[in-house]
Amino acid sequence: MTNALPLPRRSSQVTVVGAGNVGSTLAQRLLERNLADVVLVDIVAGRPQGVALDLSQAAGSEGHNRTIVGTNDYQDTANSDIVVITAGLPRRPGMTRDDLTQVNGKIVVDTLRQALAVSPGASVIVVTNPLDVMTYLAWRVSGLPPQQVMGMAGVLDSARFQTFIAWELGVPPQDVSAMVLGGHGDLMVPLPSYTTVSGIPVAELMPASRLQALIDRTRNGGAEIVQLLKQGGAYYAPASSACVMVEAILRNQRRILPLAAHLTGQYGLEDLCLGVPCRLGQTGIEAILELSLTPTEQAALERSAAAVKEQLQQALALLES
Ligand code: NAI
Ligand code: 2OP
Repeated sequence: MTNALPLPRRSSQVTVVGAGNVGSTLAQRLLERNLADVVLVDIVAGRPQGVALDLSQAAGSEGHNRTIVGTNDYQDTANSDIVVITAGLPRRPGMTRDDLTQVNGKIVVDTLRQALAVSPGASVIVVTNPLDVMTYLAWRVSGLPPQQVMGMAGVLDSARFQTFIAWELGVPPQDVSAMVLGGHGDLMVPLPSYTTVSGIPVAELMPASRLQALIDRTRNGGAEIVQLLKQGGAYYAPASSACVMVEAILRNQRRILPLAAHLTGQYGLEDLCLGVPCRLGQTGIEAILELSLTPTEQAALERSAAAVKEQLQQALALLES
């Protein structure tokens, strides 16, 4: 077979920075899908070690032979293929993602410097919020080509849109292909014109008012879970979404996924990271796809980009420290 996807190299190693809810769940998914050995690093002594020990003891039941190391020392993360940054504070009820910019910006800059010092060629996936700003900071601090630094949000936001459409129509989520662009915030841009159910445009399958309600629920998807949990935010679907991106890179799947990428004029937008559809493979972002948008969609994307740019100005000072 010449066209089979390559299996992940036996030596694939992923560093997950942050052993909290998202980081630990991502580590679990990576191991149980047999994708990579994992090094889990956190600032809290004992936490990553405890999670790693616990996950190691599930290996027999789950039937994988991947290893996980928990550590507070970045030396243990050396030579990783991918670094995923989940360290930071999650949003609390009533808190906006923007409130997190300063505190999480320092964490992202600090942890990524340490991780890349020992894995200089790694690809970087940022999960920490506010996502688009953190991804830009990560790219700037990394010194890596923009193709190797990306943010996870579009996969999650699209998965939420997919779920709500599937529930509305009573079809399996796998039949729904959803697309959400823009920043990971209230101004994200769900695109019904690029959302289909087994190839049928979603707008043909439900009244416009119901579709709008699902768009609104998608935009509010993270906050809805924060309100329910009362402490912390979503982590199962976020971990799955990050895992999809790791898999696309390690297996060189060349999947088309919405992710936060550095833009250099695409969609008329420049020098920011924002959610756009990309082809993701072993070398990272192989291509940014430029969809043709209606004037309304383009205006919505520009509004979302402007909000990200505004936050970015506050965050850039962190690079000088
Ligand atoms: P959490 O509080 O459960 O875990 C965060 C972990 O980061 C903690 O274990 C903490 O000790 C660690 N940490 C803090 N400072 C650190 C440092 N300097 N070095 C190493 N580790 C450090 O939070 P959770 O729920 O795992 O969320 C993590 C981040 O991911 C948050 O910023 C959250 O908003 C974001 N998030 C983003 C999503 C997205 O779609 N992009 C979806 C879900 C969460
Ligand atoms: C989410 O969308 C909080 O960004 C996080 O669930």
